[in-house]
Amino acid sequence: MDVLVIAVPFIAWSYSLGEVMNIRQIQEARELYGIDDWGGGYFSIDDQGFVVCHPTGEEHLSVPLPDVVAACKARSHNSPIILRFPQVIESQLERMHKSFRTAIGDSGFKGRHMGVFPFKVNQRREFIDAIVSAGQAMDYGLEVGSKTEFIAALSYTLPEKALMICNGFKDSEFIELGFAASAMGKNVVVVVEGPDELQLILDLAEKNRHCPEIGLRVRLYSKGSGKWEKSSGESSKFGLTTTEVMRCLQMLQAANLGERLSMLHFHIGSQITEIKRFKNALKEASRVYAKVVKTGFTPKYLNIGGGVGVDYDGSKTSFHSSANYSLQEFANDAVYVLGEVCTNENVPHPTIVTESGRVIAAYHSVVVTDIREVQGADSLEPLHEPLTEGQMVPVENLTHKGLKELRYILDNMNRKNYNEYYHDAIEYQEELFTLFNLGYLQLAERALSEELFYRICRKALYFASFHRHQSEEFDNLQKLMVSKYLANFSIFQSIPDSWAIDQLFPVMPLSRHDEKPTHKATIVDITCDSDGCLTTFIDRSDVKTTLDLHAPSEQPYYIGFFLTGAYQESLANEHNLFGAIHEAEIRLNDDGNWEIVKLTSGDPICELLESRNYSMNEIYEKYQMQLGRAVSSNLLTAEESNEILENLIKFSKGYPYLKGQI
Ligand SMILES: Cc1ncc(COP(=O)(O)O)c(C=O)c1O
Repeated sequence: MDVLVIAVPFIAWSYSLGEVMNIRQIQEARELYGIDDWGGGYFSIDDQGFVVCHPTGEEHLSVPLPDVVAACKARSHNSPIILRFPQVIESQLERMHKSFRTAIGDSGFKGRHMGVFPFKVNQRREFIDAIVSAGQAMDYGLEVGSKTEFIAALSYTLPEKALMICNGFKDSEFIELGFAASAMGKNVVVVVEGPDELQLILDLAEKNRHCPEIGLRVRLYSKGSGKWEKSSGESSKFGLTTTEVMRCLQMLQAANLGERLSMLHFHIGSQITEIKRFKNALKEASRVYAKVVKTGFTPKYLNIGGGVGVDYDGSKTSFHSSANYSLQEFANDAVYVLGEVCTNENVPHPTIVTESGRVIAAYHSVVVTDIREVQGADSLEPLHEPLTEGQMVPVENLTHKGLKELRYILDNMNRKNYNEYYHDAIEYQEELFTLFNLGYLQLAERALSEELFYRICRKALYFASFHRHQSEEFDNLQKLMVSKYLANFSIFQSIPDSWAIDQLFPVMPLSRHDEKPTHKATIVDITCDSDGCLTTFIDRSDVKTTLDLHAPSEQPYYIGFFLTGAYQESLANEHNLFGAIHEAEIRLNDDGNWEIVKLTSGDPICELLESRNYSMNEIYEKYQMQLGRAVSSNLLTAEESNEILENLIKFSKGYPYLKGQI
């Protein structure tokens, strides 16, 4: 008998203890920051401990973010900077389209799916260019909500069948733009928000033969969920009531333009967290569609709006920063519900139109900033380093009883007595504070009391952390004691939703994931506004009030704010005159290498000032005049004055953010 011998090569897997520890630490970091849960397959931590982007969604093709930041820095574009990955947009469009293709293929639904991207979600030219180019093969179109967006959108050559949908409140000019679009051969649908808008269309149609197709935005009773719940339901500011729908249908019939009605539309708000809400809305909208068809109209599109949620915290729940469904589930439900109602009502299956913005755009960009300073720089463990010489006063030499007691408490606090000793320390500290106000304590003694009390708090927190259920008192103390990491950016400019509506974004360092983070931190920005801080962070089961970060070191420390590609730039504001930040567009090539294909500089100071009606020439003239006066009164030499002027001009052309560490 022949024996088949398979030679198994012996592979010597030998890891040093250090390497094993690193691997374990990196795995811990993945879990701590939840990156595999919220990353959508686009972000992960590699085996070096670096955050990487997989622009095509393929795990083996990655771009290490710290390398990109270094490459931008080498080309004089320091942080803060937005890293953009246009291939992520392509991939998201494809995922959306594929979900519907699969759902339609599996269900026998007779209609098709067509997507449009809502301009307002990211109006940057490069972004819309990427959408239009990636959408060619899928007949992807655009949605606009204002004349400005419409005028920009009209310049794009979309695929012949792709839709251009006009939402929002309209005047006669907006309507005229719709007619112009139709005359230009666009597949344009003007969705009316009220009978008055329809009247404007009908009036113009009498004089102009290029009447666009018409849509009606229907106000549903069904509500969305999450932060935008109020934008839907009976009291929503958008859409036609049933009575108004009926009136519009009569108006269309009377004008003999019934065949122009091609779309019914609804949108129940952004970031829908519960799939159930979508299903309810779809059931209602499908019935409205079927009934309109049964009255003799032939709308071919049912536009189900946007609203697909992004799972910002990775919890896959109905929490406001999450979504309890996948793209595929959403598509399956849309196709199933609509198909069932139409079949029941014996009306044709329409084309399903989606206007998703957030889920298409969010993943493609990361805001990166450097940490400039750490306040309360120590980790939350008892300090082991000795008090400084000045503070190392022997107990017997301490002048005030309160100081002696604080010193005693610090030296003798332990796991059993920390609670009681901590309360005593609060009393002594209050006493010392009163003594200082009455003039009995010197500044150095006040400084010593602060240092002792700070160390006592840290020690108490350390002992409290051994208890599984920390008391509220120590919970609050922990919040007070966190380290504040000063990040070189403006929350109002780069993640305005975090300030305006408490939107949570995943935040994490870009490197050092082979090291255990030692600090419980909050983030403060460089604006002079106390609202410019981040004190809530994502967590799979709750919201965290601190972020785990590493101890400051000599090396620059970069943190990333992820999933910021939707709405953030359009809503950005220039609080403190911090303007748009630098941007880098990164592409992965076929050979697996990546390159920065475009670097765009952020707003220089002079442009920000000009946007507020300052004339830079006038400013420079005024500088010159004042410096001239200083020279005349011998406060400055002519040379000094020239040097100051040159610097003022140079700085005014620079970046308003803190200059990068070299
Ligand atoms: C009419 C309309 N369509 C589409 C969208 C896009 O929604 P989302 O970005 O949540 O997909 C919006 C935004 O709220 C909208 O108002």
